[in-house]
Amino acid sequence: MYIHFIVGARPNFVKISSLIHAIKNYNQEKTVNFKLIHTGQHYDYNMNTIFFKELGIPQPDYFLNCGGGSQTTQISKIMLEYEKVLNVDLPQYCVVVGDVNSTVACAIVAKNFKIKVVHIEAGIRSGDTTMPEEVNRILTDSITDLFFTTTLKASNLLRNIGVESSKIHFVGNTMIDTLLRFKNDFRNPFENTERTSITEDKFLVLTLHRPSNVDNLQWLKSCLLEILDSTKNVNILFPVHPRTRKNLELTGIKSDRLILLEPLGYFEFNFLVGNSIGVITDSGGITEEATVLKIPCITLRNSTERPETVTTGTNVLIGSNLTLLRKYLAKILNNNWKESDIPQYWDGKTGDRIINILLEDVHEKK
Ligand code: UD1
Repeated sequence: MYIHFIVGARPNFVKISSLIHAIKNYNQEKTVNFKLIHTGQHYDYNMNTIFFKELGIPQPDYFLNCGGGSQTTQISKIMLEYEKVLNVDLPQYCVVVGDVNSTVACAIVAKNFKIKVVHIEAGIRSGDTTMPEEVNRILTDSITDLFFTTTLKASNLLRNIGVESSKIHFVGNTMIDTLLRFKNDFRNPFENTERTSITEDKFLVLTLHRPSNVDNLQWLKSCLLEILDSTKNVNILFPVHPRTRKNLELTGIKSDRLILLEPLGYFEFNFLVGNSIGVITDSGGITEEATVLKIPCITLRNSTERPETVTTGTNVLIGSNLTLLRKYLAKILNNNWKESDIPQYWDGKTGDRIINILLEDVHEKK
C-alpha cells in the first residue's frame, strides 16, 4: 500500500501524527509505505516546526511552500504544486484530514489523477457556509472515496446525502489519539522562568483566530473587555495566532491579567489547557481536547460542526452574546460546570482502526 498524507496547517499535524504512529506500530513487514506532503500553509516555527519535533512526525518528502495569501490564492497555489508532485509520484491513496485549504486543494488534484481520496474527519457540518472550513468540508466530502468519521452522527449525515454505507467508517478521533499518547509529555511553559508563579493561581486559557472574531476590531475589543470585567483576579493566558496579532494591538487593551503569549507548541499549550479552570476559544479542535481533558470550554461561535462536544462534552456555544459569556464565566469561577462524558471511540485507537481498514481495502482491490 502506498499513501500520500497531506498536511498544511497546525491541526493537521496533530491528526497525521496518529496515523504515522499507527503505521510504525503495524509496519513489521513494511507493507505500508507513505510520503508526507506539506503544503506550507503554516510555516512559522511555533505554528509548524515545533509540532513536527514534538509529535514525532518525519520531515516532509515534498514541501510545497504555499503559505500566505487569500483563500483563493492559497488553494490555487497548492493545487498547481501538488499536481507537479503527482506528475512524477502517484500513490494509491491520498489521505486528507480536517477542513483546511490544503485539505480541499489536494483532494481535488488527487481526484483528477484518479487516486482514491480518503477523508479523515468526514461528514461533520456546522451549517454555516460563511466559514471557509464549511465550504472545504462540503467540497472534500463530495469527491471522497473512503470516509472516516469521528461520530455516528457524521456517518449518518453522509448516508443521508447519498454516500454508500460501505464507504463510511466510524472510527473515532485521531486528534484524541495524539492527546492521549503525549499526555505525559505536557510541560509548563513557565517552568524555570521568572514567571513560574503564573500557573500557581487559577487561570483561563483564551484562543481566537476565526475571521468572524478577530477581523472585526469592535467585536474583538468588546469581547476582551467583557472577559476581563467578568474575571476579576484571574489571569487570562492568551497564545496569539498570527492572524489575530495586528487587530489585537489595535484594540489598545492592556491589562496585567491579560497575558499575551506567542503561539505555543503542543506540549505547552495542552499543559495550560489541562491545568486551567476553563478555556474560551473559537477553535473546533480545542473543544474536543477540552472535552477529553474535562475542562470547561466556552466557544465564541454560533454553530459547531462538533455538536458532541456540547451534548456530551464540556463545551457551550455562546456566539457573540456577551451576557452569556458573563454567565458562563461566572459558572467556571464558581466551579459549577455541567456534567460531561467522552464520546464513543475517542479512545486513542483511531489511527490503528483507520490503517487496518485501509489495508483491508487494498486487499479487496487485489
Ligand atoms: C487555518 C485554517 C483553520 C484552522 C487554523 C488553525 C483554513 C481556511 N483555515 O486558519 O481552519 O483552524 O488554520 O490555526 O484553512 N500565518 C503566519 N504564520 C504561519 C501561519 C499563518 O504568519 O505559520 C499568517 C498567514 O500568512 C495568514 C494568516 O496567518 O496571513 C492566516 O493563516 P491561514 O493559513 O490563511 O489561516 P488560519 O487563520 O491560520
